[in-house]
Parts: sequence; C-alpha cells; structure tokens
Amino acid sequence: MQSLQEIYDNHNGRLLNKWNHYIAIYDQYFSKYRNKEFVFLEIGIAHGGSLQMWREYFGPQATIIGVDVNPECKKFEEGNTKIYIGSQEDENFLNQLKSLLPKVDVLLDDGGHTMKQQITTFNILFDQVKENGLYACEDLHTSYWFEYGGGYKKKTSFIEFSKTFIDYIHGWHATKKEKPKMFNKITESVAGIHFYDSILILEKKKMQPPIVSFKGKEQLDYHFEQYGQKKKFTKRLKQWLKLQQ
Ligand SMILES: C[S@@+](CC[C@H](N)C(=O)[O-])C[C@H]1O[C@@H](n2cnc3c(N)ncnc32)[C@H](O)[C@@H]1O
Repeated sequence: MQSLQEIYDNHNGRLLNKWNHYIAIYDQYFSKYRNKEFVFLEIGIAHGGSLQMWREYFGPQATIIGVDVNPECKKFEEGNTKIYIGSQEDENFLNQLKSLLPKVDVLLDDGGHTMKQQITTFNILFDQVKENGLYACEDLHTSYWFEYGGGYKKKTSFIEFSKTFIDYIHGWHATKKEKPKMFNKITESVAGIHFYDSILILEKKKMQPPIVSFKGKEQLDYHFEQYGQKKKFTKRLKQWLKLQQ
C-alpha cells in the first residue's frame, strides 16, 4: 500500500495543491481510515485533484464529499464521491448542507481560507463530525494575512478563535467564576488540539470529568513545599476537591 507521500509525489491526474509538509501530518491522522467505510468531507475542490488523491489513499469504500462555491466543480461527482455547491460563509447553505449530509468522520476545511469562512464553517459544521472523528482546518497562515481578514493577534482571526479552545478543554478545572466562560461543548467533546504550521486538527471524543488518583505509599510526612510552607498532600487534595464543588 502506498503512503500518502507516495500517492502525492506520483500524482499525475487533475491539478492538486497542498503545502508539502501537510502530507505527513495528514498521513499520521488519517491512515486509520484507509480501506474502511467512512465519511470524509473536504471543503475546497478547485480542480478536483485532492478528491482523486483522497480516493486513491482511502480506497473505494470511503464516501468522499466535496464542497465548493464554484458550480463547475459539480462535474467531479462520480460514484461514492458526492459534490455540493455553495459558500462556506453562507450560514443558510451550511445549515441546509447539514440537513442533507450524514455525520462525517473527518472534515477538512481547505476552502477559501478567510477568517469568516473558517469560523462560520467551524461554528456550524463542528457538530457534524462524529464522536471520535477529526475536524481539520488547513492554511491557518491566512490568519496572519490582511487580505484574508487576518493579522498578528487580531482578535477576529481564526488562530485567535481557535486558541480559545485550549482554555475550553481545561474547562473542567475552571474556578466557579470562570466556569461559564471556559466550560462548553468543546470541553465535553474534544480530547486533543493539535496545532502545526498552518494546520489545526481537533480530535473529538466524549470527555468525562478528569479523575486524579494516587498509587503507592507516602514516603514523607509532608508532600511538597509551597510558598515556604510544608503541606500535607492529603490536605492540599481536600482543598482542591472543595474548589471543584
Ligand atoms: C485551495 S483551493 C482547494 C484545493 C484543493 N482542496 C486541493 O487540495 O487541490 C480552494 C477552493 O475553495 C473554494 N472556495 C473559495 N471560497 C469558497 C467559499 N466561500 N465556499 C466554498 N468554497 C470556496 C475555491 O473555489 C477553490 O476551489
């Protein structure tokens, strides 16, 4: 079986364009779906080359769904490859798409890459990804490019938007006061957030409140020193548990 890198390097079909370093990252996360029945959705079809690459990589059992604003892309529909035409920044279109689509295992946003497009798509289609599925967005560097609505530390960029996910997965540990800001569906449904140069991958999983446990026997009559005070571990634990209530 060829690796994604080999498939990409040997590709001689319809035009395909990915930054070279994306290939190994995709292989790392997507290889578990090869030759299985599953649903892959890519926003952004262009010349249809990536649809060909994914088909070769995933095999005939995969349902591959492409979405693009360009109506000409409809011609790439064949067999188990379905095409939907519409704009990823149009909430009505995305909601309609949602009602037509099955839940997807993997969603890859390689569409127009503006901040509005990436954020709107995430807000509406994140729920369309199955538990244990992956939500991926590529070309995050547009978050630093003015023409796409980005800019370094610009509050409305997709990068700044997605950085808040880091706070959300820690929502379990928020103080009472911060909980409403930190605890949300991302806390309960995302196991991991992986940032690479220009790629974000979210691993969905039904999360449970984290449990802390202890193994073995205490060896000291105190556990650690904090602010010059020797603290009993058990005492510290009780304080921590109280904070959680
Ligand atoms: C980077 S290309 C996709 C490349 C393709 N995935 C590949 O790897 O070869 C971006 C595509 O996004 C589409 N696009 C741009 N704006 C869009 C929008 N608002 N909604 C959906 N697709 C859009 C463009 O028509 C174009 O085909």
